[in-house]
Amino acid sequence: MFKIENLEISLIKKNKIDKVLIKNISLRIPNGSIVCLVGESGSGKTLTGYSLMRIQPSQNLKITKGKIFFDNINLLELPEEKMRDLRGKEIFMIPQEPLTALNPVLTIETQLTEIFEFHTNMTKNEIKKECLRLLELVKIDNPSTRLKSYPHQLSGGQRQRVLIAMAIALKPSLIIADEPTTALDVTIQGEILELFLELRERLNLSILLITHDFGILKSISDYVYVMYGGKIVEEGTKEEIFSKPIHPYTKGLIDAVPTIDSTPKTPLKTIPGYAQISDFYCPFYERCNSAQSDCKSEFDYIFINQKHGVLCRKIMK
Ligand SMILES: Nc1ncnc2c1ncn2[C@@H]1O[C@H](COP(=O)(O)OP(=O)(O)OP(=O)(O)O)[C@@H](O)[C@H]1O
Ligand SMILES: [Mg+2]
Repeated sequence: MFKIENLEISLIKKNKIDKVLIKNISLRIPNGSIVCLVGESGSGKTLTGYSLMRIQPSQNLKITKGKIFFDNINLLELPEEKMRDLRGKEIFMIPQEPLTALNPVLTIETQLTEIFEFHTNMTKNEIKKECLRLLELVKIDNPSTRLKSYPHQLSGGQRQRVLIAMAIALKPSLIIADEPTTALDVTIQGEILELFLELRERLNLSILLITHDFGILKSISDYVYVMYGGKIVEEGTKEEIFSKPIHPYTKGLIDAVPTIDSTPKTPLKTIPGYAQISDFYCPFYERCNSAQSDCKSEFDYIFINQKHGVLCRKIMK
């Protein structure tokens, strides 16, 4: 089980907090579950994902509050060498840009082999066999030829499969997949999501899937966290979120999903404004139709039942 408690990540300038980028993030990823983090661009999904690896995309970003647990270990208190061992072995992050995640001048075989050489005592022969087995597991055609390929010789879908193979190489407890299907066409996207479901079953993996696509949530998630402006504004099982969304932002996102009935004459519903870290307690305050002045000041995150929580003042009334 992975758990984040009250996480805050800030932008640091001259050793001081210049700006808080994400605030009060608490989430749980039970063993074997697929948890989705959804929200529009800039809402803080990637920073939250990286924090589980205890790294940040740049040095001027720091975790300034909170705890991150893997079972009962607070990862923020671990010595760096122990953390280095956990990265890859227990937690693997597939970053947002698959091309930058793969080294363009090394073959797929070399890149997969490095993982085993770094973390295990396997022999060259064992590693080779395992590389082939992994490519078969992620359903890459012609695995022995593909091992000799360079990343640019593969399609987007194949690169994503290679990254998934690297992710599961050491049988980690958790894979964080940051927008894994954004650059892929819908058929390949469906195949990659199927693969995640299959691997979860076979390997009892937990997956934190970061996306801005509500369609993906619908097909794959067990539990959903909706982020907006650096905060979690709503969480719940997929069923709760889709059938009883409470936060006006979640409702807006669900309404914005095109349906089969949308014809070109039916304009897509959009949410006016843009996401930003707000000084107000509800980060959606300035875009919300139902906002009242007391939404500016602090209030509790409320659970309406065990499977559904929301940061909205309206629910208290
Ligand atoms: N290296 C950085 N330096 C300064 N600010 C940053 C940095 N990385 C991210 N931020 C800011 O932190 C906030 C959250 O960024 P993050 O990358 O987590 O968003 P995201 O939800 O993953 O967005 P996207 O869907 O576009 O990937 C944004 O406001 C962003 O501008
Ligand atoms: Mg991102």
